[in-house]
Amino acid sequence: MTWDPGSWRSKTALHQPVWPDSSDLERVEKELSLLPPLVFAGEARDLKARLGRVANGEAFLLQAGDCAESFDGFRADAIRDRLKVILQMAVVLTYSSGVPAVKVGRIAGQFAKPRSKPTETVDGTELPSFLGHMVNDLPFSPGDRKPDPDRLLRAYHQSASTLNLLRAFTKGGFADLHQVQTWNQEFVAESAQGQRYADLATEISRALRFMEACGVSSNHPEIHEADFFTSHEALLLPYEEALTRRDSLTGEWYDCSAHMVWIGERTRQLDGAHIEFFRGINNPIGCKVGPTATAEDVIGLCEALNPDREPGRLTLIIRMGADNVETGLPPILEAVKAEGHPVVWASDPMHGNTFTSETGHKTRHFDDVLREVQGFFAAHRAAGTWAGGVHVELTGEDVTECLGGTTPVETADLGKRYETMCDPRLNGRQGLDLAFQVSELLRRP
Ligand code: PEP
Ligand code: CO
Repeated sequence: MTWDPGSWRSKTALHQPVWPDSSDLERVEKELSLLPPLVFAGEARDLKARLGRVANGEAFLLQAGDCAESFDGFRADAIRDRLKVILQMAVVLTYSSGVPAVKVGRIAGQFAKPRSKPTETVDGTELPSFLGHMVNDLPFSPGDRKPDPDRLLRAYHQSASTLNLLRAFTKGGFADLHQVQTWNQEFVAESAQGQRYADLATEISRALRFMEACGVSSNHPEIHEADFFTSHEALLLPYEEALTRRDSLTGEWYDCSAHMVWIGERTRQLDGAHIEFFRGINNPIGCKVGPTATAEDVIGLCEALNPDREPGRLTLIIRMGADNVETGLPPILEAVKAEGHPVVWASDPMHGNTFTSETGHKTRHFDDVLREVQGFFAAHRAAGTWAGGVHVELTGEDVTECLGGTTPVETADLGKRYETMCDPRLNGRQGLDLAFQVSELLRRP
């Protein structure tokens, strides 16, 4: 079957904005196609190899970050604080499981959102829905909601500077394991899980000193630097196509907008444009799998997206909801296992557990998030497969968007710092809390 970066255009692409002027979009696509790649093919291959270890049960995937990145909230502090929580969670997971945590951010490109309805009506006025800052803006006015292709360029440039800062933080000493104590932010450190983290950090620092006292140098890149990769839902295919480049070493195509990209629950039709685009790029890729997916659908995805059965190529991100996962997941695990497809199994315990609170906020309860992760692990234990990772929406900040947690957010708190532009995110404490809970599930003697 022939493929090229634009072959998706002969298929149906769902959840694409209606751009007011196609020549405007073409001008932007042309400009994007001449701009430098954001990541290199070799980096994507490195991530694929690490995910191959996850597929083999030798590592764990932590994929986390914003639901939708914002042009307004673009600050170094916010990027740093999100990275801190992810580094903290990775330390907790690695320490208890004894296997490496592969760290992938929903960051530096996570700007486009599929929505349940293409338009929104307020007081009789109908406007396009907010589709993420890569497309339009949140305020309900005709000007703000009009899709503007120049936003694709702005998203590219914001991704480039976010990635630049992430590379500086992770390679420039900030993520050195000797700094493990300093990732505990103040509002997290005050909480029970923050204290538990501080104790663990003390143990790690002591272990590093012990190694050094024994003459084993901890002067290794693995200690001084963190490997951190970027990912987003590759929803807007004109943008992804413009950043798809042929690797000069191998001649293979890579989508150089991020190390890993995934297909959303709403755009995984086997005959659709997204599957067509994804099958030809050589990045490690993900696909969301929701409660309506059958075992047959999932086998179809594996065959379309990973016909060569390469471990690490395909991550199935299960997001069934706490009430569905224990019945919905086992037949899928059995079918994929029987067919011998090597996949990374990750749990997204966020998107199947969203509801509207009495106060009118779109929210999720920490208990439901945890229950879905527990159901996911239980299904894997029963099937003898490796529960390979979690995929969560979080921020480093002290927001009040999800209910519950050990330092609980109550319904009445939701209005206090509800800052997300799209789905509710775990705050720094709830993220760390979840990591400790997952670490119990992963603990090996
Ligand atoms: C998301 O990850 O923000 C999202 C829209 O998820 P899903 O495709 O699983 O609904
Ligand atoms: Co979301």
